[in-house]
Amino acid sequence: MKGVVLAGGLGSRLSPLTKVTNKHLLPIYDKPMIYYPIQTLVNAGIKEILIVTGGKNAGDFLRLLGNGREFRLQHVNYTYQEGEGGIAQALGLAEFFADGEKICVVLGDNIIETNVCKAADDFRKQRAGAKIILKQVTDAERFGVVEIQCGRIIGIEEKPKAPKSNLAVIGIYFYDASVFEKIKRLKPSGRGELEITDVNNFYIQEGSLTHETLDGWWTDAGTFESLLRANNLVASTGANQLRASLPSAAPVAVGEKSR
Ligand code: DAU
Repeated sequence: MKGVVLAGGLGSRLSPLTKVTNKHLLPIYDKPMIYYPIQTLVNAGIKEILIVTGGKNAGDFLRLLGNGREFRLQHVNYTYQEGEGGIAQALGLAEFFADGEKICVVLGDNIIETNVCKAADDFRKQRAGAKIILKQVTDAERFGVVEIQCGRIIGIEEKPKAPKSNLAVIGIYFYDASVFEKIKRLKPSGRGELEITDVNNFYIQEGSLTHETLDGWWTDAGTFESLLRANNLVASTGANQLRASLPSAAPVAVGEKSR
């Protein structure tokens, strides 16, 4: 299975922080935001990774990440999204990279406390279709929200005014190769974007969407409130699995002052 981090979009909700840099390069405690989704993929045993970037500072991703040596990767693949036509549009750019294999997609502003190793292993064994991960939230209207009947997901609504459950779809998705054909069938939503929720609904209609729930905390970091929460969660959770495995700062040489 290959991995895709979606770090396109303009991050306009975080302006002026994003006027001169990309949202995914902003700090989350002691690391740039994009380190966390990359580490989520690496923790799940994924070694071939594509980063979809966009905006005016795409070159900075290459300067920051290079070939991914800090993550013990052989190399990192990059591609560029023109404009911000939505999450599904950004994912469509990964078709060539995926080359018929299953993929795990992580939104560049999604951070989790633990890992998705079990979901990844289960999806490696799943014959076809897709898998999403759910988390109970108190502000469901900000997310894709599932409707469940008799333990089965019967639909997902994007940012519903009256959510049918308190279970949000987190920004980590597993797809088979048919995702790219589904993306080509999408029409822009009311907000002018190709929605990942519409892709997931295609899989529901096909009867091939499975789901799991996430242990530990999850947050996005795309608004001032959630950016602050992400920083506080990462800073306060100490040596959780994710932080423990992130590349640490270079050791201070003897005689050199730590600042
Ligand atoms: O965080 C989980 C939520 O993410 C899901 O529950 C929603 O169903 C899903 O639509 C998404 O909602 P957001 O409104 O929070 O997505 P946002 O526009 O903030 O985009 C999230 C990331 O996706 C962003 O950090 C980069 C990537 N992205 C987004 C857009 C719009 C792209 O790469 N290209 C894009 O054009």
